[in-house]
Amino acid sequence: MKRIITFGTFDVLHVGHIRILERAKELGHHLTVGVSSDALNYSKKSRYPVYPQSDRSELIASLKFVDHVFIEESLELKAEYIKEHKADILVMGDDWEGKFDFLNHLCEVKYLRRTEGISTTQLIAEIRKYE
Ligand code: CTP
Repeated sequence: MKRIITFGTFDVLHVGHIRILERAKELGHHLTVGVSSDALNYSKKSRYPVYPQSDRSELIASLKFVDHVFIEESLELKAEYIKEHKADILVMGDDWEGKFDFLNHLCEVKYLRRTEGISTTQLIAEIRKYE
């Protein structure tokens, strides 16, 4: 019985998001998802997500393989979130390969392969073409 935790923006929900969450859940019995706050995204990318954090977390919470959702307020708090949510495994996409290994004294750190050929950034660019 393992508790899994993962993080992301999950803006403009797409199949890559669904697949990584489904595969994360297969690693254990309970999946917690930290959905990054609007402010955190703004500070990283100088733009707000298309969907506000309340909508992004509602969408993620509605998925059958997600058990708990919270708002990730800071990228620096991963260790605190892992402890707070009693996670046994941290799952990240393989775009982060190696970057969170420093947390492996707290929990197992696994990087799952991203779905090729899709991202929120790419979708937004596609949708813009219809303007
Ligand atoms: N993810 C994935 N496959 C994709 C896109 C995302 O597995 N094609 C995973 C990421 O690795 C991460 C989670 O979904 O674990 C949330 O990613 P997020 O950054 O919110 O999605 P992106 O589509 O990558 O968004 P952006 O283009 O804004 O970076």
